Amino acid sequence: MATVECRDLCKSYGSQEVIRNFNLSVADHEFVVFLGPSGCGKSTILRMIAGLEEISAGKLMIGGTCVNDRDPGDRGIAMVFQNYALYPHMTVRENITFALERAGVKKPDIDTRLSPVVDSLGLDVHLNRKPTELSGGQQQRVAIARAMIKTPDVFLFDEPLSNLDAKLRGHLRVEIAKLHRSLRSTSIYVTHDQLEAMTLADRIVLMNKGQIEQMGTPEEIYSRPATLFAAGFIGTPNMNFFELEASEGRLRDGALDLPAPAAVPSGKVTLGVRPGAVHLVPEGTPDAIPAMVERDEFHGESRLISLRSGAHLFTSAVPATTQIHEGESVWARFDASALHFFDTERGHRL
Ligand SMILES: Nc1ncnc2c1ncn2[C@@H]1O[C@H](COP(=O)(O)OP(=O)(O)OP(=O)(O)O)[C@@H](O)[C@H]1O
Ligand SMILES: [Mg+2]
Repeated sequence: MATVECRDLCKSYGSQEVIRNFNLSVADHEFVVFLGPSGCGKSTILRMIAGLEEISAGKLMIGGTCVNDRDPGDRGIAMVFQNYALYPHMTVRENITFALERAGVKKPDIDTRLSPVVDSLGLDVHLNRKPTELSGGQQQRVAIARAMIKTPDVFLFDEPLSNLDAKLRGHLRVEIAKLHRSLRSTSIYVTHDQLEAMTLADRIVLMNKGQIEQMGTPEEIYSRPATLFAAGFIGTPNMNFFELEASEGRLRDGALDLPAPAAVPSGKVTLGVRPGAVHLVPEGTPDAIPAMVERDEFHGESRLISLRSGAHLFTSAVPATTQIHEGESVWARFDASALHFFDTERGHRL
């Protein structure tokens, strides 16, 4: 088992700088998820850790030793990619054990290591099949098994589930969580799926344009997003934002006029409210906002109601049993204990 430490890691392709001064310490046994939009640099950092990409500047430490110049094979890591390229002419068993055989591990030792791995991934019944005789999810489990059997110090996953359908993704997400609980290897997992990040991570590293936007437990980032970007990225359905002017204890624009908490300074302020904190209330409720129902979407257990008030379009998540009609006039009220305030210009939390 090992720690991973990135110290001022930088990566440039020619004159294009894609990672700037990336600093992160991953603790022994920790499960860290890199989350962020496409192109923000998640895979680049993972590939630098794996040794598949040269480090332009900075230091990479694994288990307390600088490994910048160490070959990928000597870093004690195993990696699972999105494209899990299995050898088509080999059976499942051969695909999984190939690397150990090549490393000279004796057959009885290989068998001892193979059985718990294939059992935990439900591959025991498929060992003699070829990859072409397996479903996508089964193939992906072979790729995970192939990495697991190496019992690495550090597991690196780059969007291992993104090629799979939603149901299988959910299933394998649980398998990966179980695997981590039993092996406890230090893990870094890249995804742009926030559900995967929220459910797997001890800690999420939210990235934006090659830099860390916010780091924290899923609960911390969800309940106290540090920036407008973090607030907009985490949470489904998306948070509602209102650009308002704070003065004399009120938050206003042409359509809204709400009480401002004492901590909010005067000036341009962006108010963030998650749809679940927008409640439909009876007319005459204090601080209620008049709105018109533009759209009513049935989501199963809840409905997502799109509301218009003046120039503002925002959403409210309500129980599915709520009776509501498009075109109807309603009153909405924001839950005062669930408001987020941001500096509109600089984007940071107030
Ligand atoms: N070989 C390369 N040459 C030049 N630029 C590259 C190269 N590889 C990656 N980049 C650039 O580096 C940036 C980060 O890419 P990276 O693959 O790390 O993003 P990502 O966060 O993994 O995105 P995705 O979610 O789409 O996989 C992107 O802007 C990309 O265009
Ligand atoms: Mg990527």
